[in-house]
Amino acid sequence: MNWREDAKKMAAVKAVSHITDGFVVGLGSGTTVTYALQEIAKRIAEEELHILGIPTSHQTYYLALKYHIPLTTLDLHPQLNMAIDGADQVDNSLDMIKGMGGALTREKIVASASKKNIIAIDETKLAEKLGTKQPVPIEVTPFALPTVDAKLRKLGSKPLLRKAKRKLGPVITDNGNFILDTDFGPIDNPKKLNQTLKMIPGVVETGLFIEIANIVYVGGRKTVRKLE
Ligand code: A5P
Repeated sequence: MNWREDAKKMAAVKAVSHITDGFVVGLGSGTTVTYALQEIAKRIAEEELHILGIPTSHQTYYLALKYHIPLTTLDLHPQLNMAIDGADQVDNSLDMIKGMGGALTREKIVASASKKNIIAIDETKLAEKLGTKQPVPIEVTPFALPTVDAKLRKLGSKPLLRKAKRKLGPVITDNGNFILDTDFGPIDNPKKLNQTLKMIPGVVETGLFIEIANIVYVGGRKTVRKLE
């Protein structure tokens, strides 16, 4: 494994250490969360830990089945004890850009229902300002693609429809929508931008996760730092 994989794994293990018996846990998506799921499976086997997970994507759903992590739904558990997730970029206020894996909408819904949100990243994800060399993924209902695209361009950004790999045409999210990876450049006021984007009809959700993370574990080459 290269150092980034080790760093993500170390950070994920720290995040999982917050889980205690009886917890309902939001399970984010992505490569870092995959390490967290492996650690949860290990703790279930070794400690006879009883937890229930709520997955935020098809990817996580199938991984949870593979690792025998018991699952529940928001219908049965609309409030979660905590959620674990990765991120694509994190700033000094612990605001984040997420969604490069396309799971932003369910991730934000589950995060909003969780008492605590614990994020695990490697240190390359830290940035002074969100949006620096990083687009903001925006999930859009397909019917509204041209109108949302035009409104985003009016805001001065450059939206790019995410293309699927090994399938013709655009990525279709787990919710049946498109994603516009939208370059705003370095963002001065992520909260205000998020509010502006959410006002555009057809925008399902944005990858700006504002005032959501409580703790961020940052894996480095040798150690893990805790930001809160
Ligand atoms: C999924 O849509 C994303 O929000 C992921 O949480 C984010 O992309 C981090 O993924 P990695 O852990 O794979 O970097």
